[in-house]
Amino acid sequence: MGEYIKPNSIIHGDSRELLRQIAPDSVACSVWSPPYHVGKEYEAGMSYEDWLSLLKTVISLHMPILKPGGFLAVNIADILCFKDPDIPRIMAENKNRKRNDITRELVLETIAAHPGLNRYQIAQILGCSEQTVDRRLKGNNIRGGKYATQTRVKLVGGLIEQMGLDAGLYLYDRRIWVKDAAWENSRWHSNSYRSVDEFEYIYMFWKPGITVVDRDRLTKEEWVNWGSRAVWSFPSVRANDDHEAKFPLELPRRIIRLLTAPEDVVLDCFVGSGTTAVAALLEGRQYIGIDIEEKYVEMSKKACRRTLESMNGEQQLQLF
Ligand SMILES: C[S@@+](CC[C@H](N)C(=O)[O-])C[C@H]1O[C@@H](n2cnc3c(N)ncnc32)[C@H](O)[C@@H]1O
Repeated sequence: MGEYIKPNSIIHGDSRELLRQIAPDSVACSVWSPPYHVGKEYEAGMSYEDWLSLLKTVISLHMPILKPGGFLAVNIADILCFKDPDIPRIMAENKNRKRNDITRELVLETIAAHPGLNRYQIAQILGCSEQTVDRRLKGNNIRGGKYATQTRVKLVGGLIEQMGLDAGLYLYDRRIWVKDAAWENSRWHSNSYRSVDEFEYIYMFWKPGITVVDRDRLTKEEWVNWGSRAVWSFPSVRANDDHEAKFPLELPRRIIRLLTAPEDVVLDCFVGSGTTAVAALLEGRQYIGIDIEEKYVEMSKKACRRTLESMNGEQQLQLF
């Protein structure tokens, strides 16, 4: 093996390989959000078993690289539309079926009339959800058709907990992130008794060792407002125009402020658009970011450069 990956870098590649190249006992906190197994572009071709195996491998590779007493914070959601061929057909008699009259043609016309607008803006013009626009464009208009496989909810927390335990990590805390209270007023309720998707989880694992507890890391107000609170409320990124599933900056920022000290190394092995790296920079921590998609690596590097510029170039970057 060559040299270890240097802090303050964003690396292109597969975390299942690259995590092996991070110095042992060096990462104070790893913060990431993996693919959720919900059909995003970057999940194409990944089966449920592939997804489980990816998470298991990545979590187990954290054990050697985390500092003793350090943390792994995983942001993830339950799978609300988990396809299960064994489920009997849900028999639903819809008394209030309102058909969504947004057609593919209408979406295409609107895009042609407003070149340069992203999916979110197109959805606003049409008065529908981003998901509807997406579904029309990708041609999968039919949902729950007569012969379609039924879906159910799949809880993910227990799976992740077990993967952590198998790796030698212990669940230290769990929080709920409430994303979009604005959805309460939304007209995009589904035609069923199911709730809208408005929260995710943050699972915080601990690697045995000495953890410095420094209550001065947060102000009194911060402890009251969120440091000691199990439920965090802040909006998600509404216009995911350049990356499909960005963190809001507030998410990694809170975790970093809570669980690390200045200069500590923060890792995100699914770095996407670079939000965790930016949060680390803003909080005076070092970062390592990894993504399997070259375009996201470039996006993250750019985001770090912009952040450094806005901080008056206080730190020297080693971007390679
Ligand atoms: C949920 S997104 C993370 C978004 C990120 N938190 C942000 O704020 O932009 C998951 C990311 O993991 C990347 N990814 C998927 N499989 C990977 C792998 N095996 N190794 C590294 N990155 C991977 C995807 O390209 C995607 O950018």
